[in-house]
Amino acid sequence: MFKINENYLKLPGSYLFFTIGKKVKEYSQAHPEKQIIRLGIGDVTQPLAPAIIEAMHGAVDEMGNAETFRGYAPDLGYEFLRNAISRNDYKARGCGISADEIFISDGAKCDSGNIQEIFSVDNRIAVCDPVYPVYVDTNVMAGRTGVYDGKTETWSDVIYMPCLAENDFLPELPKETPDLIYLCFPNNPTGSALKREQLQEWVDYANKVGAVIIYDAAYEAYISQEDVPHSIYECAGAKHCAIELHSFSKNAGFTGVRLGYTVIPKELECDGVTLHSLWARRHGTKYNGAPYIVQRAGEAVYSEAGKEQLKQQVAYYMKNARYILDGLREAGYTVSGGVNAPYIWLKAPKGMTSWEFFDYLLENANVVGTPGSGFGPSGETYFRLTAFGSYENTVEAVERIKAL
Ligand code: MLT
Repeated sequence: MFKINENYLKLPGSYLFFTIGKKVKEYSQAHPEKQIIRLGIGDVTQPLAPAIIEAMHGAVDEMGNAETFRGYAPDLGYEFLRNAISRNDYKARGCGISADEIFISDGAKCDSGNIQEIFSVDNRIAVCDPVYPVYVDTNVMAGRTGVYDGKTETWSDVIYMPCLAENDFLPELPKETPDLIYLCFPNNPTGSALKREQLQEWVDYANKVGAVIIYDAAYEAYISQEDVPHSIYECAGAKHCAIELHSFSKNAGFTGVRLGYTVIPKELECDGVTLHSLWARRHGTKYNGAPYIVQRAGEAVYSEAGKEQLKQQVAYYMKNARYILDGLREAGYTVSGGVNAPYIWLKAPKGMTSWEFFDYLLENANVVGTPGSGFGPSGETYFRLTAFGSYENTVEAVERIKAL
């Protein structure tokens, strides 16, 4: 008789954005006349930039011609894309990451969930609280998190680093020593950002205790302040302790196209075994590469026209962020984030819990956000709004909230 992976049974509830989607669908079916504005999941709304569309059309034509047709992509990604990433995202910033340390994938969500596979199940993970749920849930599935306490909504074997208003929503070095440290900056969900010298402290700490930092840089395109690093490899020593995850979803609108990459420097090793070799082995075994058309689209992100068009797209979303920040402040809300990230983090008013505020906003303003408690216990009483809506919808949503 077969047995299932019982770790899955330990997962409390369903995936956060699935629960939200279900609630919104129910409300919308009960009130079909209501115009619901969705500022919940961080999904983009602006079309792909013209330079990207042009590259995709070109690649589609190549696929329709016997001379230029491509089958399986190279396991680790096409050279043209890995070189463009190495040049633009790293060498241009003074980080010595070479093309063969970059692994192309179909997105940062998968990579952030899969990366734990190359580590021992005995490793102890540390996460920010609140946190992107994928990091914790995938470690639960792997059997690395111990026992769940429904009262505190925490796992016995996970080290939580509370990110609260008192510490500017930034984690402090943990008292217990972790083996794997998940950091996402600029942060999802709070929108907070670590300055370069603050990130350097984490790198020094990881090197001192022999931990690996899994650094999710999905939102780096939204950084507006000079002293906020775009990559962890801007910090000295990071190549010995850090893996970096990147997405094309937020900087280039690829949520439906799917493309991302992971950097594992060759220096990163454990008892003479490089993590690079393990991830290459995993990639080669379990993955056949992102589609050629999509990788050509990714290359166009780094063309001169692509860069210019995407700068404008990021500015468009950040104008939304500014509008939400200013509007909610004016309405008396306590708000943060939205300066180096497309997320605005606000305190639910009148002592409401996160889910109470979710229902209140859905029913009274027909606006959907994300309850902070869905990201972890320290998110309770907080709420996240995304700047990824259209400008018109963002303005309308803020006006509705102000009118409550
Ligand atoms: C979010 O809303 O937190 C993100 O869109 C989720 C993701 O990128 O997978």
